[in-house]
Amino acid sequence: MTGLVSAGVGVVLGDLDRDRCAAAAAEIEAAGLPGRVVPAEVDVTDPNAWSKFARTARRHFGYPTLLVNNAGVLGRQGLETITADEWDRVVNVSQRGTWLGMQTVVPSMHLAGRGAIVNVSSVFGQIGSGAAFAYHGAKGAVAAMTRAAAVELARAGIRVNAVSPGMVRTPMTTGLPEQFVTDFVAATPMRRMATPYEIAAAVLFLLSDDASFVTGTDLIVDGGYAAR
Ligand SMILES: NC(=O)c1ccc[n+]([C@@H]2O[C@H](COP(=O)([O-])OP(=O)(O)OC[C@H]3O[C@@H](n4cnc5c(N)ncnc54)[C@H](O)[C@@H]3O)[C@@H](O)[C@H]2O)c1
Repeated sequence: MTGLVSAGVGVVLGDLDRDRCAAAAAEIEAAGLPGRVVPAEVDVTDPNAWSKFARTARRHFGYPTLLVNNAGVLGRQGLETITADEWDRVVNVSQRGTWLGMQTVVPSMHLAGRGAIVNVSSVFGQIGSGAAFAYHGAKGAVAAMTRAAAVELARAGIRVNAVSPGMVRTPMTTGLPEQFVTDFVAATPMRRMATPYEIAAAVLFLLSDDASFVTGTDLIVDGGYAAR
C-alpha cells in the first residue's frame, strides 16, 4: 500500500478490524505520506457496508479506479469435518466479499472509463493440501471469478487479475501448527515463506500501467511451490 500512496494514489483501507486499519494508516502517515490513506471499517460480506465504503472513497478521492480484494479467513477443517457455519464463514469472506467488492466499485470504473482490480487468491485455489476444504474452494472461486470478470469487463477498459501467494509471513500463518509450516517451507523450492512486501509488489504491478495488456491472469507468488 505504501507503494500506491508513494505513487500519489489516495487509498481507502477497509477491514473488519478498525484498529488494524487505523494502525496501518498511521504507519504510512509516519513515513511522511500524510492524508493519502483513509481507514474505513468494512465487513466485505455486507453489501450495505460496501456502499458506505464506496461513498467514503468518492468523498475523499473521487470515483475509485483501483480495487484490491484482499480480505480472507482461513478455516482448516477438511471435507468430512467442516460444518455448514464454518463453510459459510470462509466462503463468505473470500468469494462473496470479492464479488460484492467488484460489483460495488465497477460502476465507478465505468464512469471513469478505466479500472484495474486485483483479487487475492492463493496457491490453495489451484492445488490440494489435505485440509482447509472451504478455503481451497473459496480461493479457486476467486480465481474463476477473476477470469469471468476479466472477460466481461475488458471492453470497458477494466482489467481484472488475481495474485496467488504461497505461504506468507502474516498473522494468518503465525497460528498454524509448526510442523505444517515447516513442511510447506521444505516443499517450497526457494525454502522460505514470502514477505508481505513480495505479495504487495505483485499487486502493485498488476494495478499499474506496466500491466496495461494483462487481464484475466493469476500471478503465482510462491517461491516455486506450485511448479513442482
Ligand atoms: N498468509 C498467507 O500465507 C496467505 C497465502 C495465500 C493467500 N493469502 C491471502 O492473502 C489475503 C491476506 O491475508 P493475510 O495473510 O494478510 O491474513 P490476515 O489474517 O493477516 O489478514 C486478513 C484480513 O482480512 C480481514 N477480514 C476478515 N474478515 C473480513 C471481513 N468480513 N470484512 C473485512 N475484512 C475482513 C481481517 O480482519 C484481516 O485483517 C487473504 O485473502 C488470504 O487468504 C494469504
